[in-house]
Amino acid sequence: MRRIAVLTSGGDAPGMNAAIRATVRTGLAKGWDVFGVRNGYAGLISGAIAPLGAREVGGIIQRGGTMLGSARCREFETADGQAKALVQLRQRGIDGLVVIGGNGSQTGAHALSQHGFPVVGVASTIDNDLSGTDVTIGVTSAIDVALEAIDRLKVTGASHQRAFLVEVMGRKCGYLALMAGLAGGADAIVIPEQEVDPESVAENLRAAYANGKAHAIVVVAEGSRNNAEGMASFFQAHHERLGFDLRVTKLGHVQRGVAPGAYDRLLGTLLGAAATEQLAHGSQGVLVGMINGDVATTPLHEVVNRKKALNLHLLDLAQTLAK
Ligand code: F6P
Repeated sequence: MRRIAVLTSGGDAPGMNAAIRATVRTGLAKGWDVFGVRNGYAGLISGAIAPLGAREVGGIIQRGGTMLGSARCREFETADGQAKALVQLRQRGIDGLVVIGGNGSQTGAHALSQHGFPVVGVASTIDNDLSGTDVTIGVTSAIDVALEAIDRLKVTGASHQRAFLVEVMGRKCGYLALMAGLAGGADAIVIPEQEVDPESVAENLRAAYANGKAHAIVVVAEGSRNNAEGMASFFQAHHERLGFDLRVTKLGHVQRGVAPGAYDRLLGTLLGAAATEQLAHGSQGVLVGMINGDVATTPLHEVVNRKKALNLHLLDLAQTLAK
């Protein structure tokens, strides 16, 4: 019989709970002991590790956040922190670990696997900036939050012929902004992968008004050089000349706290179950993700060193459609 543990790390993402549930119950179905680690790698270092039964992961599939807690743990980036974590795992006879998280979390998983410990990663972050998967757990629900905000801003914007800027999360990746802008019918999208200056954004807004639109929407990724602050100060400074201003809404962590939608529940379920199966088959040092519609694995060493490409043609499509 095996003993495995599961943890969630980094920014929480809607659907993480579905992944925990699937990881745990797949292990229990095999007759294994399954442990939950509190607060990510911090709990692994301190030994906050306790058995999880089927009932402990009941009633969580529909909940946002992570029932295990999460953390950003600098200590785990050190050899000393990793050594402490390995001691905690070995003291309990745990012989496999599932790490649910994004880039930083999978870098930690890769480090553990290089120490010879069997680890399987599950792709989860609202940023969708992780290689080895087309889509990460949480990003679809986070886009839905942005869309709800955009739709509401259009309603009030149309009543006052106003322009609104919505800043979304995503760290250094523009995926969230690009998808929210495309699906939300934005007049301009600003992302780190293809920076645009505020003057050309103003041009887009002017065109929207000239085309008879009653509102205008700009979606900006937080990681852009011209993020909400940059854009707001430009539009304030040039208000007289442009003839209109730009009001700013920063969504921030609101995008993370949402309950997972259908897709993220399913993705969490499929990837969480697959992670346990990978451990059962003796596979380790891999990330479980979704590639071309199928659950697939990629070695962690490839995941952590590769930058995920964004389909920049979609920017052109959004521009074409914003007429
Ligand atoms: O990685 C997920 C994310 O929400 C990013 O989009 C954002 O930049 C970051 O986490 C915020 O981190 P924290 O919650 O630690 O402030």
